[in-house]
Amino acid sequence: MRPLIFAANWKMHCGPTEARAFLDAFLVEHAPAPGREVWFFAPAVSVATVAAGLRGRAAVRTGVQNVYWEQTGAFTGETSVPMAADAGATAALVGHSERRHVFGETIEETGRKVRAVLAGGLIPVLCVGEKLDERERGDTIAVVEGQLDAVRGLDPQALSRLVIAYEPVWAIGTGRNATPHDAAEVHAAIRHHLAAVGAPADRVPILYGGSVKPGNATELVAEAEIDGVLVGGASLDPASWFAIVQAGRD
Ligand code: 13P
Repeated sequence: MRPLIFAANWKMHCGPTEARAFLDAFLVEHAPAPGREVWFFAPAVSVATVAAGLRGRAAVRTGVQNVYWEQTGAFTGETSVPMAADAGATAALVGHSERRHVFGETIEETGRKVRAVLAGGLIPVLCVGEKLDERERGDTIAVVEGQLDAVRGLDPQALSRLVIAYEPVWAIGTGRNATPHDAAEVHAAIRHHLAAVGAPADRVPILYGGSVKPGNATELVAEAEIDGVLVGGASLDPASWFAIVQAGRD
């Protein structure tokens, strides 16, 4: 059984003071439920605060939004995996569409980052997704499979530690989300491709991201192929985030 993962990606929001206040508000309401996990991808400067705020809580995880693949050295402005781990991160986003399209990160670079994250003992959450013109040309699956080349060559044990997030670029921050059916179709294709590169694909959680809100989270996680959500904007308000992590609970 794959867990259902509710992951907040705060992007460039929530410095340590705001992060602390967010957790104070969220954790009073939140009660863990079996099979469900709540993850927080905080900006690097807030990782230690979030990890401290979550300490002792069940079924929660702190993550960092980006890492560099070298361990230490003259790489001004970067965060290494051991440093993120030292601050309390146990997961890292890799290849978020903003890293690819705003900062020019390549598939080759995402591959190096996935390997560094695995080597450091963290969980890599590899983000993949097509742009609008690529979808309109019917290239969605080809684009996503190309991005999954980042994990080609990893051994099955490493592949079993992966999490994938399917985030169609046209759905991020736009209020336009993929229908649960469309997302599930891409998820199934991702799972199929992971199996083809040697992953124990039925064990790999595949999250959906892109304009997830309290109003659509339940129908998304109701799809058997959708193992959770990766949420930007709607994860910034404790009440809206609380409503999302409740999705599908009776
Ligand atoms: P939004 O939820 O704001 O569309 O962002 C999605 C995202 O990029 C999560 O990583």
